[in-house]
Amino acid sequence: MRDIPVGILGTGKYVPESRLTNQDLERMVETSDEWIVTRTGIRERRIADPAQATSDLAYEASLRALESAGLSAEDVDLIIVATITPDMFFPSTACLLQDRLGAKRAAAFDLSAACSGFIYGLATATNFIKTGMYRRVLVVGAETLSRITDYTDRNTCILFGDGAGAVVVGEVPEGRGFQSFVLGADGSGGELLRICGGGSRVPATERSVADKKHFLEMNGRDVFKFAVRVMGSSAEEALAKAGLDKSDIDLLVPHQANIRIVQAALERLGLSEDKAMVNLDRYGNVSAASIPLALAEAAEEGRIREGDRLVLVGFGGGLTWGSSVLVW
Ligand code: ACO
Repeated sequence: MRDIPVGILGTGKYVPESRLTNQDLERMVETSDEWIVTRTGIRERRIADPAQATSDLAYEASLRALESAGLSAEDVDLIIVATITPDMFFPSTACLLQDRLGAKRAAAFDLSAACSGFIYGLATATNFIKTGMYRRVLVVGAETLSRITDYTDRNTCILFGDGAGAVVVGEVPEGRGFQSFVLGADGSGGELLRICGGGSRVPATERSVADKKHFLEMNGRDVFKFAVRVMGSSAEEALAKAGLDKSDIDLLVPHQANIRIVQAALERLGLSEDKAMVNLDRYGNVSAASIPLALAEAAEEGRIREGDRLVLVGFGGGLTWGSSVLVW
């Protein structure tokens, strides 16, 4: 089997128009713009229209990714949607998207790895292509976190937003593309970040709704510590696997959870602030959509040139983490 170089053929993003600013949140819970900006770096988030669900955001981002790759939906062999906010339990959001796009040849499934889901999706797509099973895979991160956020809980409601990012993965010229992947999980930390209602353990009942079991719950401090540790270590591991050094990084594209977590990762990697793509000030934490949204925006803004060495790194519920070295 030939070792096919696999990379990104096109990127796309979509965010809803409606904005939820820190000033709006000041009117909803006891918080302040100053607290939110200094503790998180977030200034506003986008919120989906009531008529929009995750597949609608995924669709818009996917159209743009296909256009930027110069491909049509019929060229896609597989669709992977990473999300923790699917339209419904099943059919999968990937199947809903496949129908909407008219990607008739494509197999489709959702992937659940919370904020690390997009990196997990890229690794899955890459390996399908390297084995020769598929040629082109659409990998999407899409979320409507506003639907699982308790807007009376100031610990979480300031953090999350809605949006989608998509990429088409396929064969690229020799020397380009993904050089390494690192994926990890520690299920013992699952309780730190979860939605426990609505599944088979705590089915939806009037009681589960009254007890707010369908909202995201989080131990922010412990997630913060985990994030700081794992962002640096998994990025270093991905660099080592790719035979590269920290000083080789042209752009870090981190999960956009909190500016302090991004700064800690930069410090550990010995990189200056301008080496990180940051858009969390405008979108907040969009879970699985965060990295593809940042990547698409970096590409649009001309921040990535051919041959640049990127490190993508994320962490999230599960607990999970993932990173990848990518030559553009
Ligand atoms: N406004 C004002 N005060 C607040 C707010 C708020 N919005 N939220 C919390 N506080 C208070 C707390 O009650 C606490 O008060 P106390 O000391 O009287 O108890 C104080 O501020 C400090 O709280 P901490 O939790 O220590 O604040 P911290 O500096 O850790 O910041 C934060 C909190 C922003 C949540 C941080 O811990 C964080 O970013 N954690 C990681 C979150 C994350 O990345 N989650 C990923 C989710 S991804 C996924 O899988 C969906």
